Amino acid sequence: MCEGDCKGAAKGRPNMKPVYPKAGSYPDFAKLVDRENAQVDRRVFTDEQVYQAELRQIFARSWLFLAHESQIPNPGDFVRTSMGEDDVIVVRQRDGSVNAFLNSCPHRGNRVCMVDAGKKARGFICNYHGWSFGIDGALRGTDGKVYEKDETFEKAQIGLTPVAQVDSYKGLIFGTFDPDAVSLLEFFGDFTYYLDIMLDNDEGGTEFIGGAIKSEIDCNWKFPAENFVGDILHAFWTHQSGAQAILGGGVDLGKRYDELAFQASIYGHGIETNLDKVGNTRTLGYPDLVDYAFELSEKAKDRLGELRARAIGAVSSCTVFPNFSFLPGQNTFRVWHPRGPGKIELVVWTLVNKNAPDHIKEQYRKGVMMTFSPGGVFEMDDGENWEYSTRVNQGFVTRQQPLHYALGIESADMERDLPGHIHKGSLNDANQRLFYTRWAEFMEHDNWTDLQNGATAAPKKTATAAE
Ligand code: FES
Ligand code: FE
Repeated sequence: MCEGDCKGAAKGRPNMKPVYPKAGSYPDFAKLVDRENAQVDRRVFTDEQVYQAELRQIFARSWLFLAHESQIPNPGDFVRTSMGEDDVIVVRQRDGSVNAFLNSCPHRGNRVCMVDAGKKARGFICNYHGWSFGIDGALRGTDGKVYEKDETFEKAQIGLTPVAQVDSYKGLIFGTFDPDAVSLLEFFGDFTYYLDIMLDNDEGGTEFIGGAIKSEIDCNWKFPAENFVGDILHAFWTHQSGAQAILGGGVDLGKRYDELAFQASIYGHGIETNLDKVGNTRTLGYPDLVDYAFELSEKAKDRLGELRARAIGAVSSCTVFPNFSFLPGQNTFRVWHPRGPGKIELVVWTLVNKNAPDHIKEQYRKGVMMTFSPGGVFEMDDGENWEYSTRVNQGFVTRQQPLHYALGIESADMERDLPGHIHKGSLNDANQRLFYTRWAEFMEHDNWTDLQNGATAAPKKTATAAE
């Protein structure tokens, strides 16, 4: 009920305009990341107040992954997803654009869309009292009995709350709840240079195939995000048995592995990659896929240049801040939706080039299921570690002890002319330090000028001079 400051509402009538939360500033939480000593306070993984601040500062402001264009090709096609803990519908409009709305009825808050995805919907009807909404989010009708007779009822003022900004980059659709957020491209910065290794290595673009695989893991969302941003180190230990099962030998990347490898980070988005090994693709277990990746790598030299072409299919992992990750070469794309400080909902898709032969697409789909699904050999390895890291960090005395993020603290690479903060080798905590630095920037700053001009911004140099 509008009782105090009712700007924009007729006297005594409800003001149904969208409300987008304002950011605050949490300098004490920002200090939980100690950049000078490369330490992170364990409370960032377990504390309820920190978590609530994350929902406000990070998930209500960042551009978050919503869907791939290929999931909703026609008007009325939709998927249901989350932005932080908020339930959201992403729907293709009649003019071909994409909009997203809170999946919550403005009457009593019930979900208006119960299913995960659908085709050619004409609208959404709330189960509770029968309000119906168009795919543009506008209120179309009520139960036809009461509201129509109520002259004070202002139907045109009511609708599903729109996500403030929606945009896409090379097939991937993102949204932000912050009307003041910088554009999607500015949010990425020059990190698009690295995203293109996956998203633009072939004419014809990419698509998601085979639906989504969902699961829950009892871990804080930042453990998987930091793992994918730059923790190849764990693979040599955690994934030994899985690698033996699939490859017939352990994870062995050869002597020169770390000479060629590097980590790159911009605004907390990070990728670690080596070159030439086509290693990730090998773990899917299909020789045809390895041949395909080598051919693609050769062909993509014209499109991406020598260095990025050599990264295709290599041992590599990536996180787009805050919670969207993928493994180039294994082609698994995933979102770590937060569900409290100690739980995530994980949604996993398989991405392929649209022009790839059908049998290659099918092998990627099966390969992702065998490796990175709830029953996949690598996913199970990781989930257990993240669950124990989350649970054990709650101990009263345990959580007073800082965590060590100092591997490769002096490994900055000033010679390699690539966009962003570059560090030598990928066996390194560099990208994880920058991920938490970005986290601290979001905790501290209440405006985008400060957010875009802090320590995680790319050092000034030419974006593609390396080619
Ligand atoms: Fe949706 Fe009442 S809660 S119509
Ligand atoms: Fe792993």
